[in-house]
Amino acid sequence: MKVLVVGAGGREHAMVWKLAQSPQVTAIFCAPGNGGIAKMATCVPVAADDLAGLLAFATATDIDLTLVGPEISLTLGIVDLFAEAGLRIFGPERKAAALEGSKVFMKDLLAKYEIPSAHYASFTDRDQAMAYVDKMGVPLVVKADGLAAGKGVVVCHHIAEAKAAVDLVMTERAFGDAGDEVIIEEFLPGEEASFIAFTDGKTILPLPTSQDHKAVFAGDTGPNTGGMGAYSPAPVVTPELHAQVMEKVMAPTVKALAAEGAPYKGMLYAGLMIRNGVAKVLEFNCRFGDPEAQPLLMRLKNDLVEVVEAVIDGNLASISLDIDPRPAVCVVMASGGYPGSYTKGYPISGLDRAASQKDVVVFHAGTTEKNGELINAGGRVLGVTAIADDLEKAIAKAYQTVEMIHWQDCYFRGDIGQKALRRQSS
Ligand code: AMP
Ligand code: GLY
Repeated sequence: MKVLVVGAGGREHAMVWKLAQSPQVTAIFCAPGNGGIAKMATCVPVAADDLAGLLAFATATDIDLTLVGPEISLTLGIVDLFAEAGLRIFGPERKAAALEGSKVFMKDLLAKYEIPSAHYASFTDRDQAMAYVDKMGVPLVVKADGLAAGKGVVVCHHIAEAKAAVDLVMTERAFGDAGDEVIIEEFLPGEEASFIAFTDGKTILPLPTSQDHKAVFAGDTGPNTGGMGAYSPAPVVTPELHAQVMEKVMAPTVKALAAEGAPYKGMLYAGLMIRNGVAKVLEFNCRFGDPEAQPLLMRLKNDLVEVVEAVIDGNLASISLDIDPRPAVCVVMASGGYPGSYTKGYPISGLDRAASQKDVVVFHAGTTEKNGELINAGGRVLGVTAIADDLEKAIAKAYQTVEMIHWQDCYFRGDIGQKALRRQSS
């Protein structure tokens, strides 16, 4: 079976790594891939938003199965396009991917079907948005409606900050058309967790829970990033809470989408805020999390092809997930300055030694090869992922490996997983 993975990050490297273990897979292609992916797949220079280019490649190469990493391909409708051309592809169609592509669509759906989430209002008019900020007071959260690469959300603790955020989105159009509409919502305190499941629109098969670390600095301070590290499982999601999320969030959301004529197939990712035993939805993503995919795929023992095909064929009920009970931790190594500006092109040392570590995989996110050397080529560069008998050991193993790797100005958070350790010991 020839498989195509769309995307270029650590998540896609983890998908390629997992697919390479499938006895069914004979060739893996990745568009566009990165320096690490190139060691285990054939990288093709087609961008994730070039749907026509991806379709032309998949058709010409007789690709049997396509897996999609990033939301942009899904919200643009890659699944509709490939399916119309008779190609097998894993992910939601465009209409269902709007769950991530439009926060207004998502919030209105959740409100209509009484799925727990923050109170909100949406505005297409700047002055009305400003008046609402004055009426509500702070703290509150301002969000651009559309995709903004994780940057379209501002948590505001001062009125001036909230007004500046509305102007950033609506007047300065910092996120282009994504800012045609703005959401202003209630600030929810609590602890975040990621709840990611496979669904064929009927059966929902959750992966283990996980937790991302969105802020750039230790102690969850500084601006938000794409994610500086992740671990699985997330002890904040107790068995009771797990049952609650399945019953009150996942099942009703899948049902609601079907009722709205947008049946959902693929990976459904709920970003949750948990407080006092209650989970509320912060966001939905229509894809695997990055970096959550790295620890999750390390723990998944099933053949990924079997699970994905069962989703496409609507037989997910026939699958049960086989999960490694050991926890896994991913520490992201980033270019210094990220999520602001940073310098690319520094040679990365220590990767060979890191690759020889048992129970550790170094997933590449922003690397490329230049003159036979791997160099940093993005904000998030590597995701050093370790699995061990307990969380403390997995954290230690990941950081030991991180210490072997170096490039100029490389940066990582030193406290990935500490929140889970504190919870375990309390
Ligand atoms: P989103 O992309 O909507 O998940 O927002 C990105 C991040 O902003 C989340 O992971 C949270 O850390 C934070 N956030 C979003 N909405 C809220 C909210 N209503 N209350 C508190 N924090 C929020
Ligand atoms: N880790 C957050 C995300 O994938 O959106």
